[in-house]
Order: sequence, then C-alpha cells, then structure tokens
Amino acid sequence: MHRIAIFASGTGSNARKIIEYFKNKTDITVSLVLSNKANAPVLDMARDHGIDTLTLTRKEFYETEHLLAQLHQHAIDFIVLAGFLWLVPSYLVRAYPQKIVNIHPALLPKYGGKGMYGHWVHEAVKAAAEPESGMTIHFVNEAYDEGAIIFQSSCRLDPEDDPETIAKKVLRLEHEHFAPVIEQLILKQER
Ligand code: GAR
Repeated sequence: MHRIAIFASGTGSNARKIIEYFKNKTDITVSLVLSNKANAPVLDMARDHGIDTLTLTRKEFYETEHLLAQLHQHAIDFIVLAGFLWLVPSYLVRAYPQKIVNIHPALLPKYGGKGMYGHWVHEAVKAAAEPESGMTIHFVNEAYDEGAIIFQSSCRLDPEDDPETIAKKVLRLEHEHFAPVIEQLILKQER
C-alpha cells in the first residue's frame, strides 16, 4: 500500500479530486493532508473524508524535524503539492527523492517561479495574449517550478478569455489529469 500526503493551502479542489479518486483503490491511499493555514477549507474537507490533518507554522516547516516525524508516523511514501505555495525545504527533497510532485497552472517553463501562482499566472498569460495555456505536473526540487516535467496538458485560449475564464479552463485540466498521473507514476516507480 502506498500512502500519499497532500500539501495544500487553498480551497483544495485538486486535493478533493485526488482523495475521491483514490478512495476505493486498494494499492494507493491518501493518509494525511497538511496545510500552512489552520483555517484552510481543504482541512475540513479532508477530515470529512476521515483523513488525518496537520497544520505547520513556517518555523516548524523549515527548522524542525517535526514534519519528517509525522510523515514517518503515517508511513508516507509519496507527497503531492496541490496549491501549496511554500518552497519545499531541502531536507524534505532529500528524504523523498523523485517522490514529491507539484501541479502548476501554466505550461512550464513559462510563467513559473517565485510569485507566479494562482491568479497571477493567469493575469500574466492574459497580458501576453498567449494563444494557449495549460497545466504542468512536475517533480519538486529546491527551486520553484524547476523540477523535471512529468506531464502537461494544454487548452486553447480565445481573445475574449480573461484571467477568470483561463483559470477555469486550466483547473478543468488539473482535475482531469492530476490523480491519474499520480497513480501511473507511483505504479511505474514500483516496477
Ligand atoms: C491550482 O490551480 C494549482 O495549479 C495552483 O493553485 C491552484 C490550487 O487550487 N498552484 C500554484 O499556483 C503553485 N504555483 P485548488 O486549491 O482548488 O486545488
């Protein structure tokens, strides 16, 4: 049994999709949801699904072994960032080599890096009048959005699209692909 921890800070719509996707699977399960915000809606949603949750302060996240101890206690072997905005510390990248993935709401390497998240990404895509956008799933390393790309999916943009409609198009792709890509990756790594 593979046990996933999801790190999320926002509404958690991707986290929800992933939890629901793996709910009835026998070989992969979501065992822990972590947030940096005690009142993040994603935590209530996880608890409603009977999943353990954890909130960490910045200091705990970067300067203590508390997180590693918690991950080991839950026997976590794979980490998914789904709308989690803090840079992952190197102790964690070292502890989980090729076992941490992130989703980004653009076609990396364009529109990535520090400060490029959520709405800001779609604003920038609109400002550049891009004919397309999309989503990227990639391995996490010590730099924002620079790890090796695992999967991308794109959507056409129309001149009348604004950041809100772009966000909707991209989120639809995220919801469609994130969980199956995680599943395929975990099963491929097992072989
Ligand atoms: C998603 O669109 C994800 O790609 C983005 O945050 C959103 C979270 O939505 N992540 C980043 O921008 C990371 N740089 P959700 O909370 O509804 O899943």
